[in-house]
Amino acid sequence: MAKVRIGVFGGGRGRTAIKQLISNPDCEVVAICDMYEPTLEKCRQTAQEANYPVDIKYFTDFEEFFNFDMDAVILANYAHQHAPYAIRFLRSGRHVMSECLTMSCMKEAVELIEAVEETGKIYSYAENYCYTKARWEMRKLYRSGVLGELQYAEGEYLHDCAPIWPSITYGQRDHWRNLMPSTFYCTHSIGPILYMTGLRPVQVVAFETPNTDNMHNLGTNSGTLCMEAITLNNGAILKSTHFNIKSNRHSSYQLNGTLGGCQDLGNGRIGVYLEPAGKNGDGFKTEYTPDPIIAEAEATGHGGGDYYTTYYFVKSILGDKVAKARIVNVYQAVEMCMPGTLGLKSIAGGNIPIKCPNLRNKEERDAYRNDTACSFPEIAGDQYITNNLQGRPEIPDSVFEEVEYKWKNGLKG
Ligand SMILES: NC(=O)c1ccc[n+]([C@@H]2O[C@H](COP(=O)([O-])OP(=O)(O)OC[C@H]3O[C@@H](n4cnc5c(N)ncnc54)[C@H](O)[C@@H]3O)[C@@H](O)[C@H]2O)c1
Repeated sequence: MAKVRIGVFGGGRGRTAIKQLISNPDCEVVAICDMYEPTLEKCRQTAQEANYPVDIKYFTDFEEFFNFDMDAVILANYAHQHAPYAIRFLRSGRHVMSECLTMSCMKEAVELIEAVEETGKIYSYAENYCYTKARWEMRKLYRSGVLGELQYAEGEYLHDCAPIWPSITYGQRDHWRNLMPSTFYCTHSIGPILYMTGLRPVQVVAFETPNTDNMHNLGTNSGTLCMEAITLNNGAILKSTHFNIKSNRHSSYQLNGTLGGCQDLGNGRIGVYLEPAGKNGDGFKTEYTPDPIIAEAEATGHGGGDYYTTYYFVKSILGDKVAKARIVNVYQAVEMCMPGTLGLKSIAGGNIPIKCPNLRNKEERDAYRNDTACSFPEIAGDQYITNNLQGRPEIPDSVFEEVEYKWKNGLKG
């Protein structure tokens, strides 16, 4: 294959991928699909401003886009609808990179894994928070063995989306961001820890804080912040916290092993404590700014993370073994997402522990083949679990009208 022919589905977040892809010499963006014309127009402008020489085809109709000749697709459509589209593209012979999140329910997790196994196509999950220079250094440190065996880890993704809620939900009552539970958007906090350590979840207990008035008045009744206590397959505990909370920092990660610990201090810096085996308290502390994996990535969004997802996806399709080892594969993608999917059941049951299966094992899949439990009614059917677990009052239409007004007039939430 000379250059990978790529289509992008969803032009909001998809435009970030487009910006990366149009300067990547190993691929061509050949098609973009979004049913909302103004979003498609912004994508057109992005390509024009870059003087992109390829004749991109623009589609508002998904089926026409699906039938267009392309080798691979980036899914940046609605976050709760990724798995069925991924499966359809994989089974039509295309490689897939999926934006966050992986799946909405366990049934989709099983079907997605089997679609990748049966087709042999590349599936890459765009968990961009894995690749910043500090987190990459944490991965290298853990895998070198100097931290010993993981005992405890923390992953935080504290993103107060209230100000941008109008521009990301458009005042739609049934937008996935309004329907999702607090547990759902969990891979920015959990993903980097699993990616660093190679461990997987075996149990989750989830908690959420009350739905706050400001979020209720923007259109969601879900708990505002979620905390998941996740047991990993070596017995370590991972504390994951995520979402809409006021904070002076956006994200933070920490690993603590039997021989030392390290922490992402923000601004690209890392703090490390290392102790020789058998020398309790006799270690040394250091702080430094590690080098990025690729210097060029530094100029891109999310601390450089937005560069690597598309870069490694394209290289993987072209057969690069290093890239293939660095993408987030389908098993890892499902494992990063699963504590959120099953965490909803934990909270709904009164913060009960829920087992996380190892879906790498075929024998463990059957129990989840018909598990559609989630907070998205059209996916869950009769296994629907509301995201309004605290019995907040129904949100009146006037709220959504106001949010739509704010969106159309460029106002903050
Ligand atoms: N990794 C990150 O840092 C990050 C940041 C922002 C968003 N995201 C992810 O990107 C995805 C998109 O998010 P977004 O912020 O752009 O908002 P969004 O989910 O509202 O946008 C989805 C876009 O897809 C289009 N679309 C959906 N279904 C379609 C269909 N059947 N046919 C044609 N067009 C369709 C919509 O018109 C819309 O423009 C989500 O999965 C989100 O989780 C990731």
